[in-house]
Amino acid sequence: MSHVSHARPVVTVLDLQRMAGAGERIVMVTAYDAITARIADAAGVDVLLVGDSVGNVCLGFESTLPVTMAMMAHHLEAVVRSRPRALLVVDLPFLSYHLGVEDTLRNAGGLVQKGAQAVKLEGGARRVPVIRALVEAEIPVMGHLGLTPQSVNAMGGYKVQGREAAAAVGLLEDALRIQDAGCCSVVLEGIPAELAERITRELTIPTIGIGAGAACRGQVLVFHDILGLVPGRHPKFVRTYLDGFETLREGLGRWGEDVRAGRFPGPQESYMLPEAAREQVTAWKPTTQV
Ligand code: KIV
Repeated sequence: MSHVSHARPVVTVLDLQRMAGAGERIVMVTAYDAITARIADAAGVDVLLVGDSVGNVCLGFESTLPVTMAMMAHHLEAVVRSRPRALLVVDLPFLSYHLGVEDTLRNAGGLVQKGAQAVKLEGGARRVPVIRALVEAEIPVMGHLGLTPQSVNAMGGYKVQGREAAAAVGLLEDALRIQDAGCCSVVLEGIPAELAERITRELTIPTIGIGAGAACRGQVLVFHDILGLVPGRHPKFVRTYLDGFETLREGLGRWGEDVRAGRFPGPQESYMLPEAAREQVTAWKPTTQV
């Protein structure tokens, strides 16, 4: 059997636990296609998430709810083709794990067969049966608690969760329940930093935060947010490291100017005829047709 060899060893789910234990912060970012995966992998991230945020970021939906299994599979396959060394986690989209254990296993198993190394699903105690079944089928599961985007209608919008005592305690309990069910780690999204810190202390599995303060064992952000590819206002928890939108717009704009001014393509971007062929082509005259 042959294995892909990487300059650095590949990251596995077991490494997440090891890294957290050693106090190393886990770096996770979304990737939706071969090029975003290649860039993220070259930047040395530990975990690539083929997130259902592909719906908002790449497909123009207003939420993640319209994202289907077919869409996730399509984007996962593109990421897999880049052969990342990072651990590859894929989101189970809305309705792919809500209709029963068998359906969930078929959906998650299909994504694993396409190259995912773990699946992520949203929700707490009520997801315990499907988490158990997935773990039983040797499919590592990453949980996702707090501001879970697939619950946007139930939450009445994208709002920070766990601000009231009862809700905060509920999230702590949910975190323990999904850990007991076998999750290998959990994303904490849009919750107060102190609550995320408490959950992180209570759990033995690593927490990965997004809008959940600095105490989590790792952090995740959307690729396009970090690189400033989405114009307009960002949520408070996003830090942008590049004005990617403007940089790309400017590059394309310069190319357009070169095309319009006849400066593109130049000799260096053109294929030339060999000398002998050029002479013949120059000397060629059309024969008169009778
Ligand atoms: O789909 C996604 O991008 C996510 C993360 C931001 C955690 O679930």
